[in-house]
Amino acid sequence: MSQRITLQTLGELKSAGRKFAMLTAYDFPTAQAAQQAGVHALLVGDSMGTVLLGHTSTRGVPLNLMVILAEAVRRGAPDVFLVGDLPHETMQSCETLCAGARRFTREAGCDAVKVEAGIEHVAWIAELARGGVCVIAHIGLRPQSVLSPDGYRAQARDADGVLRLVDDARALVDAGAAMLLIEAVPPDASAAVLREVSVPVIGCGAGPACDGHVVVTEDMLGLTTVRPPRFVPVHAALGAERSAAMRRWVEEIEAGTYPGPQHLYPMRTAPQPQTTT
Ligand code: KIV
Repeated sequence: MSQRITLQTLGELKSAGRKFAMLTAYDFPTAQAAQQAGVHALLVGDSMGTVLLGHTSTRGVPLNLMVILAEAVRRGAPDVFLVGDLPHETMQSCETLCAGARRFTREAGCDAVKVEAGIEHVAWIAELARGGVCVIAHIGLRPQSVLSPDGYRAQARDADGVLRLVDDARALVDAGAAMLLIEAVPPDASAAVLREVSVPVIGCGAGPACDGHVVVTEDMLGLTTVRPPRFVPVHAALGAERSAAMRRWVEEIEAGTYPGPQHLYPMRTAPQPQTTT
């Protein structure tokens, strides 16, 4: 029997020294597969802008679409801890951010929202938290600040960078962030954050100290055409399998071997002979 995973569950796993697994999901069947596989948390990430829509940056992702996809993911995975990623569009003001968060929680049933945030956003995080929203502050590499595909670079790789990361983390947690997500930093940097905060910390290419880890599902399944980041374990080659299956379909059509007898609807009654007048 499955049990709904909550913020408290993730906190208990952290306290027990047990790690949790998070993946991205943008659709119903992926969400179903993830829940069946025991994934603890799903992120409807704005990475869908690059992964699904083929954009070169995550900036153009519309909130409306994200909410629709989050609803589908919730239908597929009613028990996971579900996180809606607040897209760049919502970062215009504290009001637009709070309105976006309300849509994810009320319309899609998300348990939390993720915000790419720095120390400059503490007032917004505080406002979300005051409104009862469970906020995950995303620090380190923040893809919404990246405008071209070659702009994705690891962060906090020197002592000053680590200090800034820790300052951001502390300020955002003090403001009310219930969790952190750290992307693309060396293990020493994430370990420094983990020494400073008591909330669960999710790593995305951030080393083993993190309490949980997330990667983009399509990267892990070998479904993306660009080389995934170095921290992604590629556990399947579904993209190659998908292309091979499609090629086989084309070949069957061209050879006339499809449709075969097993693909045809038989008549229930024998056809009536044609009458001529
Ligand atoms: O949008 C996303 O999928 C993300 C993860 C890669 C952390 O932010």
